Amino acid sequence: MMSSKPEILVYPTVEEAQAATARQIADLLAPSSRALVVLSGGAAPPGVFHQLGQPPLRNLVPWHALSILWADERLVPFHDRENNYFQTRKTLLDHVPIPSEQVFPVATYYPVEEAARVYQNQVEALLERHAGQIDLALLGMGPDGHTASLFPGFPQLEASPETLVAPVTDAPKPPPTRVTLTAHALNRARRVIFLVAGADKAPMVRQVLQGAYDPQRLPAQLVRPPVGRVTWMLDAAAARELA
Ligand code: 6PG
Repeated sequence: MMSSKPEILVYPTVEEAQAATARQIADLLAPSSRALVVLSGGAAPPGVFHQLGQPPLRNLVPWHALSILWADERLVPFHDRENNYFQTRKTLLDHVPIPSEQVFPVATYYPVEEAARVYQNQVEALLERHAGQIDLALLGMGPDGHTASLFPGFPQLEASPETLVAPVTDAPKPPPTRVTLTAHALNRARRVIFLVAGADKAPMVRQVLQGAYDPQRLPAQLVRPPVGRVTWMLDAAAARELA
């Protein structure tokens, strides 16, 4: 089945894009009795997390029903500012009543191959408990077209279908050692929200959304869930080259 065209929503400022993303996430999760949620690191999500973690949105989300995974993680200790789980904890998870056993950070204390293997098992087990589907994936995109830690020309782009998690050892964006979900995992999502802001992303936003399909060069194009809806939440700067 072909996935439908992505929806593109443009907001004047990054703050407005973050606020609208937080609202969308809260509305989407509000009716859930259980939901598997994938979160990302990067510059834009903390503004979203901050709003989700306080009223009124905090009161809409059934926190006890969520299981949380990360789209990618940097292989640094849990208390390192570069750690995506740490950032999410500080900006969101420490402020909401989510049971800690429903939060699944990448075990960054293992060597990267082992960390990826352990996460693969966790992701498989969680998918099994959620009818094979991710309910929501919040993603970003770098100015080079990467999403999660799927970088242009990297071998993780061609992972076999059963590979849901892959190690990365030489990422161009520091820190170089990472663990990432593959497109096969991200494409289990029923709903994907890309939150992308800033003028430096504008040429890539245009190429990914309006250029030819070339996922080796434009990895964000790999995220096309067959039964999911994809929404791009952009600020005006990131959208300025769209036709
Ligand atoms: C990471 C992120 C990564 C991010 C993009 C965009 O850990 O590096 O998960 O995939 O989403 O690089 O990041 P910015 O919003 O900071 O540009």
